[in-house]
Amino acid sequence: MTIFFDKKTKTFHLQNAQISYLLGIEENNSLVHLYFGKKIKNYSGNYRYPRTDRSFSPNPPDASDRLLSLDTLPLEFPGNGFGDFREPAYNLKLKNGSRITDFRYDSYKIIAGKPTLEGLPALYVEAENEAETLVVTLKDTLSKLQLKLSYTIYKGFAVIARSTQLVNDSQDSVEVNRLASQSIDFPNRELDLIHLNGSWAKERQLTREKVNTGIKVLDSKRGSSSHHQNPFVALVDPTTTEFQGDAYGINLVYSGNHETVIQKDPYDQTRVITGLNSFNFSWQLGAGETFQTPEAVMVYSSNGLNELSHTYHDLYNHHLIRGEAKLKERPTLINNWEATYFDFNEEKVMKIVEEAKALGIEMFVLDDGWFGGREDDFTSLGDWTETEGKIACGLENLSQKIHEKGLKFGIWFEPEMISEDSDLFRAHPDWALGVPGRGRSLGRNQFVLDFSRQDVRDNIYQQMTSILDRIPIDYVKWDMNRNMIEVYSVLLDSENQGEVSHRYMLGLYEFLEKLVTNYPEILFESCSGGGGRFDAGLLYYMPQTWTSDNTDAVARLKIQYGTSLAYPISSMGAHVSAIPNHQTERKTSLATRGNVAMSGVLGYELDLTQLSTEEKKEIKEQVNFYKQHRQLLQFGTFYRLKSPFEGNDTAWMFVSKNQEEAMVFYYRVLTEASAPLTTLKLVRLLEDENYEFDGKMIAGDELMNIGFYINPELSGDYVSQRFYLRKV
Ligand code: DGJ
Repeated sequence: MTIFFDKKTKTFHLQNAQISYLLGIEENNSLVHLYFGKKIKNYSGNYRYPRTDRSFSPNPPDASDRLLSLDTLPLEFPGNGFGDFREPAYNLKLKNGSRITDFRYDSYKIIAGKPTLEGLPALYVEAENEAETLVVTLKDTLSKLQLKLSYTIYKGFAVIARSTQLVNDSQDSVEVNRLASQSIDFPNRELDLIHLNGSWAKERQLTREKVNTGIKVLDSKRGSSSHHQNPFVALVDPTTTEFQGDAYGINLVYSGNHETVIQKDPYDQTRVITGLNSFNFSWQLGAGETFQTPEAVMVYSSNGLNELSHTYHDLYNHHLIRGEAKLKERPTLINNWEATYFDFNEEKVMKIVEEAKALGIEMFVLDDGWFGGREDDFTSLGDWTETEGKIACGLENLSQKIHEKGLKFGIWFEPEMISEDSDLFRAHPDWALGVPGRGRSLGRNQFVLDFSRQDVRDNIYQQMTSILDRIPIDYVKWDMNRNMIEVYSVLLDSENQGEVSHRYMLGLYEFLEKLVTNYPEILFESCSGGGGRFDAGLLYYMPQTWTSDNTDAVARLKIQYGTSLAYPISSMGAHVSAIPNHQTERKTSLATRGNVAMSGVLGYELDLTQLSTEEKKEIKEQVNFYKQHRQLLQFGTFYRLKSPFEGNDTAWMFVSKNQEEAMVFYYRVLTEASAPLTTLKLVRLLEDENYEFDGKMIAGDELMNIGFYINPELSGDYVSQRFYLRKV
């Protein structure tokens, strides 16, 4: 991996074994984008954007002729004011009211490794030789502002991690109204856009559409990365499939408001900008101050979407997820939420624990309802003291009893929220976000604590850690059950109110950094009404995420398929729950529920004491099977074979890194009379080796090129099959 600057062609070339990323400096010192894609060994300098006179395209003041216009050039970090009419990557209001800036190339530096992004989650390196970083500085001489564009290239990964810093060297403050993490121009290319949208219980539904002329914005204004629009997009060639073709992924490492703007101009040039949402955002950057954006992780694949996902999965497992859970097998768990909701006591809990032990489950998680007298979702958020008498023996003893049975003990918190009916709210009504003089809107009967405030964070940290210090706890589920409105902080001046959403996120990240540093042995799982904050930002602190409140096996096919585009399987919490399913009322077999949930981090969320002997036997087998194969299932290479978004069948498989083992899952939603036969071809096996497969011995080349028939006798709705293969 190297980064070099060619003085003759005025080109930066970031290169590793997989990719090249090329930037050029134009004659007027504009920084232009040249290329991102498969590795180019030696770039000649030949490929430059042709000079063409486009009428009505203005020429900058120092252009030598009318052939140079920013209106059409593929710019690396486009701005506002000198003739680029497309969407800008930044929008700055200067002291004199002007929004016109003129950033030109100034200098560069190359740094071994990767600097941290202060206060923000980001990819990291463990050793300096794992990555190299280019920082290109652009300057606007008149306003004395600098833009520092940062590009990290990793050894062995087809990735460029980008972020931006704005440095204010002037004597005045500047108002930042937009500052993107990355912008990329694709000149002259037909593209499809893939994105993950949805809603509660229907997260990360994969949508693929043609990029058409005009502007499309994919964003969240909800104060969280959201159920509705995940901060991930892919731009692919129209012919790209799971297995072939060019694919570019862009994933923002951020958990709050975000936006991706896609614009195709009349010359078929497409610009994609990603970053903090500029809606209602403004930031007063004082003299001498610096603003740092979140990071955008840009991945390239020349072999379709599966390869794109493999890069994200491996990258996040090795360079985003930290701490003791890194690359470590995750425990199976039983969560009491759908088993009891708020209605639990020591006896009920211990019965579930005893059953869990008999079934081989490794951890019990006590969900919502153990604190502050909370018996429904109207009260007590903010009062993180144990409800006396609810667990008769007390939480500390409960934890001990559970540990004595050989299970780990986990507990639920929702630290960012406050109930109107809570001691905390009665004492500090101004600690909730809200506009003075106006009413506050409820969401799930609760308000949002102003996490931009240090005093608020300190109080919650102290309350939370007094529980964690007193009671042996192995796992924490960090929930967040509403979106933010009336985003106003009483501590900030009027001109700073546009900063609240981002300050909230910075506060949250500061809190989490302290928590995970001080409690390294605890496994954290984030949650936001299911998967409302499944993003790379939170994975930096919490290596698992509750994928969705929807535990219906059929709905989960789409949710987990979409999620797998960017996020590793080891991060996806997936539970077997009761039937009829509590979200969809569908009845699916225990086998199918197990086969879906074990394609993530397997857990159970149902009343184990209500199961029949046969069901218990089956769960015991599932748990045992999962434990035997969880290295493969949590950290193997995951291939999507058949998409639930394209038909009645879904199939995916996991292959071990040495290709000697694989697990294949096939699911069919609805049965059909006189249905055509289905064959499944496998991938990534060793073609010359034999595998034990379904009681037979079959060579890898046969399984990959001929495949096998799915049993035509498999009948009924919501059926599934699982195949384990091992090299003999
Ligand atoms: C929403 C979560 O997604 C559920 O799993 C559960 O923890 C509830 N909150 C508890 O209130």
